[in-house]
Amino acid sequence: MFLRTIITFLLSYIPLLVFSQTLINPVIWQDHPDLDVFRVGHTFYYSSSTFAYSPGAPILRSFDLANWEAVTHSVPYLNFSPANAYNLTSNSRAYVKGIWASTLRYRPSSDTFYWLGCVDGGKTYIWSSPGGNARSNGGEVPPESWNWTPRPVIDKCYYDAGLFFDDDDSQVYVVYGNTQIRIAQLSVAANGDLREVRNQLVYASSDMTVEGARLYKRNGEYWIWVTRPADAQYVLRGNNPWGPYTRRVLVDRIQGPLVSAGYAHQGGVVDTEDGRWFYVGFLDAYPGGRIPVVAPMTWGSDGWPTVVRDGANGWGMLYFLPVNTTRKVGVLGPRVDEFKGMKLGPEWEWNHNPDNGKWALSTGLVLKTATVAGDLFAARNTLTHRIHGPKSRGTFRIDVGAMKDGDRTGAVLFRDKAAYIGIHKTGKTASIVMVDNLNLVEGSWTTSSTGRVAVTGPSVTGEIWLRIQADITPAFGTNTGRQAIFAYSTDGKTFTILGSAFAMSNSWRYFSGYRYGVFNFATKALGGEIKVKSFVMDIV
Ligand SMILES: *[C@@H]1O[C@H](CO)[C@@H](O)[C@H](O)[C@H]1NC(C)=O
Ligand SMILES: *[C@@H]1O[C@H](CO)[C@@H](O)[C@H](O)[C@H]1NC(C)=O
Repeated sequence: MFLRTIITFLLSYIPLLVFSQTLINPVIWQDHPDLDVFRVGHTFYYSSSTFAYSPGAPILRSFDLANWEAVTHSVPYLNFSPANAYNLTSNSRAYVKGIWASTLRYRPSSDTFYWLGCVDGGKTYIWSSPGGNARSNGGEVPPESWNWTPRPVIDKCYYDAGLFFDDDDSQVYVVYGNTQIRIAQLSVAANGDLREVRNQLVYASSDMTVEGARLYKRNGEYWIWVTRPADAQYVLRGNNPWGPYTRRVLVDRIQGPLVSAGYAHQGGVVDTEDGRWFYVGFLDAYPGGRIPVVAPMTWGSDGWPTVVRDGANGWGMLYFLPVNTTRKVGVLGPRVDEFKGMKLGPEWEWNHNPDNGKWALSTGLVLKTATVAGDLFAARNTLTHRIHGPKSRGTFRIDVGAMKDGDRTGAVLFRDKAAYIGIHKTGKTASIVMVDNLNLVEGSWTTSSTGRVAVTGPSVTGEIWLRIQADITPAFGTNTGRQAIFAYSTDGKTFTILGSAFAMSNSWRYFSGYRYGVFNFATKALGGEIKVKSFVMDIV
């Protein structure tokens, strides 16, 4: 594999590096699964799934398909039922439930973005936002124009939904389903609400499972993109939305661009303003989660698409930049956040819907204890951030001076098999601890282990820097446990490692990858608080 990589590099990459601007895969080394991509004017949008994290369904944007930034979330809070599960109250929880394989599109005639997704196999939830006249601004939305409001739910599950507004918006379709692929036609009321007016089976697969459907139109023909989980992409071609459709394979177990990251699959396609097409799929890059890769497509004389391979007939690590533009986006990667704005940045998501009375922005992020619990997974208001791969570290600078007896705070490597470095306050003493063995049961997602203090360090007053250094280099399908190291500092310069390295789980069943998180919960009584003064994520 190593030799193959070198040969591939020599054959096909050096000309790209020398002569042009380059797209590097993965384009985002962060967990952004079940993606839906589309373009409005010169702006590309990307929606992804977030399960019980809140806010949900983040939206990324790009001007060249290679550089992306986070702009907003389609679902500002999870308005799903039962509310106590999504709010993490009354001993209910929704880990691994919530938002998966949802869809986001723009309707130009009403300048409206619509998100919809089936939640927990029941109803389809819909949210919309005005576009701030995006259609006249090359698709760009002024940040203050994002304003997501819930629409009436559709009392039916559009499983793995793909929304599509046909030319001039006159027809609205949602393609969805597992193996039995259906299309629902929707009407748009004067107030913008969506309602189903027709529903039909359009393709029944007899030989394999297919799902993750997306609907597109090109040269008057309709195309449904479906994945065979979790290693192939198929295309269905028809003369009208209702079929009949003819199927062909697009990619099946295509190698690369990363090893131990599964095969690129699922996702969708998008064209540029000048009519070139790109396929965006994702890799099962656990322990980091599912990360997107882009490749150009060509269309044959018979009208069928092909993904452009690299010199070794695999998915390339480098391609020509899809769009040469001087328009720039921010960075989705290394960053410093001092929590100075009026709102949390769009990179942050809580473990479930937060208790909004228990946190505030005030020269830092104030986290009051929101839950009395013996279990981090049962505690509200754990704030999480995607880990940038393949290797990065997340450092939280925290003032722990206002913790109360019994409080637990810290920087957590958050997933169903978790560990943290934190502060346990007992009486008047705040001790630095490294805790592992915080585990959920796969499937029921109940807590099987609330943690074990592996090492106790010195006591601390005032400020402390807590750091997690995580290697999320893909190890999917292997027995290699990628490692995370926990460290603290009292001056922000000299860090001391606490405990031994923690081996992360490569299982896909929790779906979301590991995240950096900061938490503060009580085991005795509410009333304590911490202040998070900064978060720094840097590449190592
Ligand atoms: C971008 O610029 C490079 C270098 O000038 C050129 O080779 C490439 O074809 C351009 N790509 C596009 C999409 O215009
Ligand atoms: C759940 O939390 C959301 C926001 O975090 C809030 O708007 C809603 O009222 C809460 N619902 C219940 C039943 O507590």
